[in-house]
Amino acid sequence: MIKKGIILAGGKGTRMSPLTKAVNKQLLPIYDKPLIFYPLSILMLANIKDILIIVNKGELSQYKKILPNGDNLGIKITYKEQSKPKGLPDAFILGEKFIEKKNVAMILGDNFFYGQNLTKSLIQNTQLKKGAKVVLYKVLKPESFGVAKTNKRNKIIQIKEKPKTFISDLAITGLYFFDNKVVEYAKKLKPSKRGELEIVDLLNIYKRKNQLSADLIGRGGAWLDTGSIDDFYKTSNFVSSIENRQGFKIACLEEISLNKRWISKKQIKESIKFYGKCDYSKYLNNLIS
Ligand code: TTP
Repeated sequence: MIKKGIILAGGKGTRMSPLTKAVNKQLLPIYDKPLIFYPLSILMLANIKDILIIVNKGELSQYKKILPNGDNLGIKITYKEQSKPKGLPDAFILGEKFIEKKNVAMILGDNFFYGQNLTKSLIQNTQLKKGAKVVLYKVLKPESFGVAKTNKRNKIIQIKEKPKTFISDLAITGLYFFDNKVVEYAKKLKPSKRGELEIVDLLNIYKRKNQLSADLIGRGGAWLDTGSIDDFYKTSNFVSSIENRQGFKIACLEEISLNKRWISKKQIKESIKFYGKCDYSKYLNNLIS
């Protein structure tokens, strides 16, 4: 069972400049919460309570203001700084001590997932014992993504970054599950032409060993990218539509913890004090009254 998870929440956020000049992308709002709440909620829904957040050097104090150490959520949050964006596999080099000899999940700080049955499949993915698993999502424009071709047994047989000719329309999302070998493999990688360690190279090591499998999010689920300003607003609109229609919040962290009995009503009251008079607090108050 995977009990540890990493959120990669650094990055330059070039495409969103000037918004990201003073504030990291993952602290910017997706509708009514900072972006980081959404990937964190995904790990929590997968029953992962031991979480390492990797942030840019110099940005730790801002993150700690909103997510200090996880006590308020009944989870454990630790931080590690990344000196510069060296690529996604750097998470496993920086995270070596945190990972210990365990298996680990990784989610990119700017990835948004939503949909029925999501929790069930997340928990299933944490059962991984050996190899690696990536989450795939069908897209209309595969040429803009890293894509994977699968066989009937959901094994991945080919991966390609931004393919010019069609091989598959299944995009590799930013949610991955790895066995402990990932640390050793990440350390062996060499930077690519663009000077970064590449996740595709890491996944290819597993693929060559026939140990890379896929979990497909079906058409009832959503995976939205939040890399550009336009995507940010589209995702915000999505969250606002659902929340204002149903009255349920997406990625209310305290609600997830309360439902899982990781925290008590008393802790919710403390959170309400922390957030102050706002709609989010009103929502929390409704949960306990
Ligand atoms: P990217 O989208 O590749 O990069 P970015 O967020 O800096 O944006 P841009 O391309 O506009 O400059 O990164 C995906 C996610 O992973 C994002 O949340 C930032 C994070 N990340 C790190 O934390 N460290 C890294 O070394 C890299 C490459 C990404």
